[in-house]
Amino acid sequence: MDSNESIPFNKPYYSGKELDYIRQAFASGKISGDGIFTRKCQQFFCEQLGFDKALLTTSCTDALEIAALLANIGPDDEVIVPSFTFPSTANAFALRGAKILFADSGATHPNLDISSLESLISKKTKAIVPVHYAGIACEMEPLLELARAYNLYVIEDAAHSFDSYYKDTPLGSIGHFGTFSFHETKNISSGEGGMLIINASQFYQRAEILREKGTNRSSFFRGEVDKYSWVDIGSSFLPSDIIAAVLYAQLEEFPSIQKKRLTLWNRYFDNLKSLADLGYLELPFIPSYATNNAHMFYILCSSCEERQALIDHLRSHKIYAIFHYVPLHSAPYYHDKHDKRALPNCDRFSQCLLRLPLYNELLFEQVDRVSEQIHVFFTSQKTPHFAQLLCKHLYKKNPVKQLYTQ
Ligand SMILES: Cc1ncc(COP(=O)(O)O)c(C=O)c1O
Repeated sequence: MDSNESIPFNKPYYSGKELDYIRQAFASGKISGDGIFTRKCQQFFCEQLGFDKALLTTSCTDALEIAALLANIGPDDEVIVPSFTFPSTANAFALRGAKILFADSGATHPNLDISSLESLISKKTKAIVPVHYAGIACEMEPLLELARAYNLYVIEDAAHSFDSYYKDTPLGSIGHFGTFSFHETKNISSGEGGMLIINASQFYQRAEILREKGTNRSSFFRGEVDKYSWVDIGSSFLPSDIIAAVLYAQLEEFPSIQKKRLTLWNRYFDNLKSLADLGYLELPFIPSYATNNAHMFYILCSSCEERQALIDHLRSHKIYAIFHYVPLHSAPYYHDKHDKRALPNCDRFSQCLLRLPLYNELLFEQVDRVSEQIHVFFTSQKTPHFAQLLCKHLYKKNPVKQLYTQ
């Protein structure tokens, strides 16, 4: 390995069978949605991961939009969403006209602070959308208790949470609905892609209709009706079987993908532990009720300025680390609609969290190179004033590129 080779933030995984399965999809004579590979993927999720009903969608964003329709979210409703998340988590409900109430993160993890939830519930609240950040479960039992007490929908944004669990229960199967992403940064991916999990049988039929442009085409293909027509609202949320063929090639490899990612994750953790013990940085916290699917390895710096200086230091060694969400409560679209509550934990994660390269092809030697440079950065003398200026300068220079890297 060339010790000066670039280490990108992400490299999409390729199992080697993708093109073969795409050829098979063509050979089947049907490459539109709900073909053989769509069915194989959905069956895989139900059999291997224990979901009741899985529907592939073109993205997690689409799955969230279907969930918002199934929950009949409308302009009189309020929906509670963490502020530290991707815009789609809130946008799916804003699209239906709902008011979004942003919850703060907890102090030790970017997931929403369960203890703050009850104070956000009003007569208008219709749903809570917990995001299992980095594939680490939110504390679901108290959240479900609140949801039952106030008769609220729970829609799990499990975009990061493939093969991750809360007390042995798969994430995505706990609320009324669960939504997954297969974007190229995820553990398994089809470039773009997603999935809706439906955990209550009364929604199965309508979910299929909403996903098929408001038609009962799925029932027609199963021979349940003799023609199909427009029966409800809906949109085009169904992915082609080409996408599903790619996803299936990766699903078959999932145990080895997960094992490899976890080994890399643990190596970062072990390499950086001495820095955390000395107080230079913080490492991810995994509560005892949650499993780790090694979706992401992040560290927490002590300030935005320090983080920007570290990003720059790593970049000068051709290592590409990226920060994550800009709080939605202060985002351009929402800041004048937000109720002005301060969300300090969310702000801290937004300013201090840094994601390190993590992908299947990454080598131990590369994890060690990244870790070594982090050690060099923290243990060599820095000039905080310089770092602060640099941070301000880079924010001004390059805001958009930094904001929406998934
Ligand atoms: C928490 C969360 N929800 C939803 C999404 C949107 O996923 P997709 O790109 O599949 O629509 C993302 C994107 O990564 C995300 O991080």
